[in-house]
Amino acid sequence: MSEDPSLPPLVPLVQPHWSILDLAKIARRNLLELIPVQTLNHPIVSGSKGTRWHMITEPAALKRVLLDNQENYPKAEVTKSISRPAIGESVFIAEGAHWRWQRRAVAPAFSHRNIANFSQTMEAAANRACTRLETKLAEPVNLLDEMIKTTFEVISDVTLSGDEHHNSDQVQAAFEAYISRTASASLLDVFALPAWVPRPGRLFGARHIRYMTAMADTAISLRQQGTACDPPDLLDLLMAGEDPETHRTMTAQEIRNNLLTFIFAGHETTALTLAWALYLCGFDPSAQERARQEAKAALQGRVATQADLANLPFVRQIVEESLRLYPPFALIARTAQQPDELAGTEVRKGDTVVVPIYSLHRSVLYWDEPDAFRPDRFHPDNTIDRFQYIPFGDGPRVCIGMSFALQEAVIILATLLSRFSFTLVPDKVPTPKLILTLRPDGGVWLNVAKA
Ligand code: HEM
Repeated sequence: MSEDPSLPPLVPLVQPHWSILDLAKIARRNLLELIPVQTLNHPIVSGSKGTRWHMITEPAALKRVLLDNQENYPKAEVTKSISRPAIGESVFIAEGAHWRWQRRAVAPAFSHRNIANFSQTMEAAANRACTRLETKLAEPVNLLDEMIKTTFEVISDVTLSGDEHHNSDQVQAAFEAYISRTASASLLDVFALPAWVPRPGRLFGARHIRYMTAMADTAISLRQQGTACDPPDLLDLLMAGEDPETHRTMTAQEIRNNLLTFIFAGHETTALTLAWALYLCGFDPSAQERARQEAKAALQGRVATQADLANLPFVRQIVEESLRLYPPFALIARTAQQPDELAGTEVRKGDTVVVPIYSLHRSVLYWDEPDAFRPDRFHPDNTIDRFQYIPFGDGPRVCIGMSFALQEAVIILATLLSRFSFTLVPDKVPTPKLILTLRPDGGVWLNVAKA
C-alpha cells in the first residue's frame, strides 16, 4: 500500500519478474500485482509469459480495439470461462450474430424512460439504507456490506419483484461465493496459463450456480403464470424483448441467462463504486461537505429521485472520480483474431490484448496527479478524452447498464450524504484488491453520524 497520507489507498504496481507458479499464487492474492508498473507511463507494454500479451493504455489504440476494429477483438476466452457456467451465452459473453440480436432485444429495457421508471426502486433502497444506518450510529459500520445489501435490493426488486419466495440473503450469499471463489481461479487464464496450473475454485462454484439458476427459473415461471408489473420491471422487459430486425424473442433459458447477467454485472459493481465513493468522502472531508451542501439544497430532506440528478453535479463528479481511481472492472481482455498493429507494436493472431483500466485511469501520460482524489477533474468545463476514461468500456460492447448504474449511485450517495456524515476509522484502511472486480479488501469501515 502507498505510504503517502495525502493519497487515497493504492497498491504500488510492480516490475514483473514472476514465474508461472508465482502467477498462480499472485492471482489468488491480488491481480493488481500482475499489472506491470510500466503501464503507468507507457502506451503499450508487451510480454510473452504463458501467451503473447499486450497491455494497452494509448487512447488511439483503445479506440481501435474497442470501436474501429472491434470485430478483430472478441472478448478473451478467460472472460467467457469465468462467466459461462453461470450465465451461459448471454449478451455479456456472446459474440457475432448471437450477441447482436440479444443486444438489440435487451436495449429497450435500458431506455431513458425505463431507467427513469426504476428510480422509485432506487429511492426505496436508499431510504432503507438510511433506516439501517440510523440504528448503527454507535460504532463503526462496514459500508461495503451496507452498499452490497442496498444495490442487491435494487437489482432483485427490478428483476425478481414478482417472486416473493426467494430468500434475498441466500441469493446474495450464493452470488458472493461464486464471484470470489470461482472467478479468482479462472483469471489465471488472462495469461493463458498451461492447464496443469491448478484452478481449484472452478468445481466449487457448481452448487451456487444450481441455486441461482433454480431461483431465476422460479421467478420466470411465476411471472409467466402471473401478470406483468406496472411499470414493467427488467424481467417483464426481458420477456417482452424482441430483436427489431428479425422479431426473434428469447427462450426461457435465454431469459434466465440474461436475468442472471444483469444481477451479476449490475449489483456488485455499483456497490463497489458507492463503497469507494463513501471512503473517499471520509478521506476528503471538505469534498464531502461540499457534496452534502449540494444534496441538502437539492433534496430538502427528501430521498433523491431521478428528477434531482441535474441538481447534483458535484455528487456525480465524486462518483465519476471514484470510478476513475477504483474502476470495478479494473482490466478487460480480448483475443486478436488477425494480425494488427497497436501503438506501434505488432499484434499477432491469438495474442491476448489486455486493457488495464486501472492503469489507464492512473497513467501519468493522461492525468495530472493521477493518484490524487480530485472530483473537479470531472467538472463540465474540463475536457477528458473519451478513451482516456472508460470505467464502462466503450464501443458496441459498452456497458448496457451504465445509465442505470450512474443514476443509482447518485441517488443513493446524495441521499446518504444529505442525512449522515462519514469519518475514517483510524487503522482501517481498505486495500484495493482485484479478484474479478476491484474490491476494498477488509471492507470500508467508517464512523457514521447524523448530519
Ligand atoms: C458502476 C457499475 C458498473 C460498471 C463499472 C460496469 C462496467 C462494465 C464494463 C467495463 C463492461 C464492458 C466489459 C468489456 O468490454 O469487456 C460492462 C458490460 C456490461 N454490463 Fe456493466 N457495469 C456496471 C453496471 C452494470 C449494470 C447496473 C448492469 C445491468 C443492470 C450491467 C450490465 C452489463 C452488461 C449486460 C454488459 C455486457 C454488454 C455487452 O457486451 O453487450 N452493468 N459493464
